[in-house]
Amino acid sequence: MSKRVAVAAANWKMNKTIAEAKAYMAELAEARADIAGEAEVIIFAPFTMLMKVARGAEAAKAGVGGQDMYWKASGAYTGEVSVPMLKDAGCTHVLVGHSERRGRFGVPEPELAGDLGKVFGDTDASCNIKVKVALEGGLIPCLCVGETLAEREAGQADPIIAAQLEAGLKDVSAEQVAGMLLAYEPVWSIGTGKVCDPDEAQRICGMIRATVAKLYDQPTADAVRVLYGGSMKADNVVGLLAKADIDGGLVGGASLKVADFKPIIAACAAS
Ligand code: PGA
Repeated sequence: MSKRVAVAAANWKMNKTIAEAKAYMAELAEARADIAGEAEVIIFAPFTMLMKVARGAEAAKAGVGGQDMYWKASGAYTGEVSVPMLKDAGCTHVLVGHSERRGRFGVPEPELAGDLGKVFGDTDASCNIKVKVALEGGLIPCLCVGETLAEREAGQADPIIAAQLEAGLKDVSAEQVAGMLLAYEPVWSIGTGKVCDPDEAQRICGMIRATVAKLYDQPTADAVRVLYGGSMKADNVVGLLAKADIDGGLVGGASLKVADFKPIIAACAAS
C-alpha cells in the first residue's frame, strides 16, 4: 500500500473578512516554511474571499476550496455559485455535503426549528450530483459524511454512513474516487469540543475505506484519503493521525488562527 499524503483542511465556515483572509495567507506562508515533511493544506473559505485566498495560495503551498456549489454552470439560480465560478476564483477543491449544509447541526440551533431548517437543503442525492459535477468541472470534492448523536445512540452510525457514501458516490468512477477526499465528521462532535475517541474514529474511517473497497476495489480504497473532522485541535491531532485509516483532518474552529492550525499541519507532515 502506498503511503498517502496527509491533508490538513481548514473549514473557515462563515468567518473572516477579506483583509483577515489576506493576512492569514501571509502568516500561513511563513508557518509552512517552518514545517518539514509533506502535508497537503487546503483552505475552504467563504465565497467572498476565495480570490484573496487563491492569491496567497502558492506562497502558502495550499489548495483553495469553496464550502458548497450548485451543479448548473450558470443561469437563473439566485444566490448560487457554480463550479466554473469557483474555478475562475482560483479554487482547486470544494466541500460537498457538510452536515451544516445538510441542515444537521451538532449544537442546538433552536431558531432553525421547523421550516427555517429547510434553508440548508443538501440530501444524499444532491451531494451525488455535486460530487459528479465538481469532478467533471475539474474540482476535487471533499464529500462529508457522519451521524448525529441520536443516530449514534440508536446504533445506526455505521449503516447511515455507509448509505451516505453509497448514495454520494453513485456513478462516480473508481479513478475519480481515488483522487477524492472523504471526511468523517460525527455531527455531535462538530464545534462542541467533544472529539471522537481515536479508536472509534479509526473504526469508522476503516469502515469508510472498507465500504469504498466493497463499492470499487482495494487499490481505490487504498488511494482515497479519509479525513476526520470534529473538534480536532493541537492536543488531540497526533492521537487521531496515528490511526491507520485517518489521513488528515477537516478542521473548523482550530483552523481560524494560523497559530492553532500550524501544529495540525505539522502533525500531518510528521504522520
Ligand atoms: P470543528 O468543525 O473543528 O469546529 O468541530 C469541523 C467541521 O465542521 O468541519
